[in-house]
Amino acid sequence: MNIVLGVSGSIAAYRAADLARELMRQGHTIRACLTDAAQQFVTPTLFETLTGNPCLIDAFDEPETGRMAHIDWARQADLILVAPATANTINKLAAGIGDDMLTTLVLAATCPLVVAPAMNPQMYANEITQRSLKTLSARAVAIVEPQEGDVACGEHGQGKLAPNSQIVDTVQAVLASSRLLAGKRVVITSGPTQEPIDEVRFLSNRSSGKMGSAIARAALLMGAEVTIVSGPVQIAYPLQAKVVRVGDAVQMLEATINESAGADIVIGAAAVADYRPADPVAGKMRRGKDNITLTLVPNPDIIAQVARSYPSACVVGFAAEPTSDLSVAMEKLVRKGLFAIAANDVSAPGTGFDAEDNDIALIRRDVAPVMSGRRSKLACALWLLDNLAR
Ligand code: PMT
Repeated sequence: MNIVLGVSGSIAAYRAADLARELMRQGHTIRACLTDAAQQFVTPTLFETLTGNPCLIDAFDEPETGRMAHIDWARQADLILVAPATANTINKLAAGIGDDMLTTLVLAATCPLVVAPAMNPQMYANEITQRSLKTLSARAVAIVEPQEGDVACGEHGQGKLAPNSQIVDTVQAVLASSRLLAGKRVVITSGPTQEPIDEVRFLSNRSSGKMGSAIARAALLMGAEVTIVSGPVQIAYPLQAKVVRVGDAVQMLEATINESAGADIVIGAAAVADYRPADPVAGKMRRGKDNITLTLVPNPDIIAQVARSYPSACVVGFAAEPTSDLSVAMEKLVRKGLFAIAANDVSAPGTGFDAEDNDIALIRRDVAPVMSGRRSKLACALWLLDNLAR
């Protein structure tokens, strides 16, 4: 595997040399990138000699003429490891700042990122550093926590770079997870549907597409080929996913059935309207004095139809329930003929519709339900796919 080793300016930078060696012993190709501050402790020559590859130090370095290295290396990387990662580098990574080669390269990459912090204990405990680490974790960056001990500045506390063996183990685990869905096709329904009442009004719900997008990102991180069939949403989906845009449930059914042919996993994260107006009005309905009655007819059950049409696919639904009681979700699992269902309590504050986090109970037939606990939607999605893939 191709690993980019980013080294930032900590006294622990000297340990990055051994880390490079250990990762090479595990069969990986290492290409190093040093920040300016890292070069106060170690040199590019050290890493070039150790790895047999050029070492990047400047944002405009171009070891191969005509190939922008920050894009080229980002494209080729299977994983980026930043070890040691200083408070400055961590805060820049969390904020999306790209003002040197390392941070620019990370911005351009879509592969998994592992960050091993090393710094003075006060800098590690600093509220901003902690918030940045939380932000990175929510984006599925693996953090190898620093250890407690005596640090170079004479203080005692948490801030020592984790042992190299622990960093290597984390890299190996993240790489293994990044191949869990290699060669698999994953189809995800996402967002709401809009059921027209007339040409300007519709029935819909508060689904934002964030859960569907998180599942797409997680599946891509695990090596899958991803298609999203999405109702109207504002959020941006990952660029590497194919996105099929639809409006109402009937369109979503047709697109999902088409896209699911040959898929290995189909996940229904969309909040599909159960009913649609029977006779949408042409033009605009006019206001009158009398009450009006809207006749609704049931929409097709998309995920159930996918499960019937493609019995060899692993078809997984979501159950949005205003309760933590799992009995209704279990009934849906059986009625819709699904392999599994992820129940989320949409009445719990901070999770469910349009929230950043979720809290899922994964229910399979004849297996006790497992709980994700409250996490970012991306972390929930990684947890869900990991459970399904294993
Ligand atoms: O988009 P977000 O704002 O991030 O919110 C995420 C979410 C809360 C919408 C998501 O986590 C979720 O729970 N999605 C399913 C919502 C839902 O419609 O649940 P349901 O219990 O009504 O449906 C059960 C399953 O059947 C779902 O997989 C649903 O996609 C599917 N279904 C339902 C009705 C229908 N006509 N066709 C379907 O395929």
